[in-house]
Amino acid sequence: MTELSLAAAHEVDRYLVDTLVDADDSLDATVQAPRAADMPAIEVAPTGGKLLWLLARLSGARRVLEIGTLGGYSTIWLARGIPDDGRVVTIEAEPRHAEVARRSIDRAGVGERVDICVGRGADVLPTLEDQAPFDLVFIDADKESNTVYLDWAARLGRPGTLIVVDNVVRAGRVADAEDPSPQVRGVRAGLQMLRDDPRFTATALQTLDAKGWDGIALALVV
Ligand code: DHB
Ligand code: MG
Repeated sequence: MTELSLAAAHEVDRYLVDTLVDADDSLDATVQAPRAADMPAIEVAPTGGKLLWLLARLSGARRVLEIGTLGGYSTIWLARGIPDDGRVVTIEAEPRHAEVARRSIDRAGVGERVDICVGRGADVLPTLEDQAPFDLVFIDADKESNTVYLDWAARLGRPGTLIVVDNVVRAGRVADAEDPSPQVRGVRAGLQMLRDDPRFTATALQTLDAKGWDGIALALVV
C-alpha cells in the first residue's frame, strides 16, 4: 500500500483526471490565458471543475451565481452544466480578469449563458435581487468576505439552493483557531455561520488535487 504523501496524491490526481475528465482545448486555453496575463493561477482543479458541472446537473440548476470569476474556468464548467436557456451570473472585482474571462467563456461557446458583473461582491450582490432565486451559488472569492457572501447566497437563493464554498481547508490551517491570517479567519467564520445560522445545513470535504491540500464546503439553504 502506498504511503500518503503529496507526491502520491498528485500522482493519483493525475490518474483520476486522465481517467475521468475529458481533454478539452477550450478549457486548456482557459487555464493558459490567466498565466499569460500574470493573473493568479488559482482556478479549481479539473476534478473540481467537473464536480461543479455534476452538481449543476444533479441539482437541475438553471440559474447559477458565482462569486469570483478569475479567468472563467469554473464559470465554463458551471455554464456547461445548465440548460441552454439557463444563466450564470458571475462577479469579478478585477476588470482585467473579467476581460480575460470573457474571451475564454466566449471561446468555450457558452458566452450567451454567462453575465460577468464587474465590481466588488458586496456592491454587486445587492443589485441581483431581480435575478433571484439562484439554484446554485459558488463562492470562490476573497475569503475574508465569506460570511457576507453566504448571507447573500441565502438571500438570493431559495429553500433547496445548493451552495459550494471553495478553499475551506487552506493546507490544514483552517483547524488552527489561533491562525492570524484574515483568509483563514474568514473561512472559519464562514464555517461557523454554516453551523449556527438556521438558514443553512452543511458539510465539508478535504481535497488533495492539483491545487494541493484544500477542501470544499457544501451547504443547502433550508
Ligand atoms: C487562493 C484563492 C483561491 O480561490 C484558491 O482556490 C486558492 C488560493 C488564495 O487566495 O490564495
Ligand atoms: Mg478557489
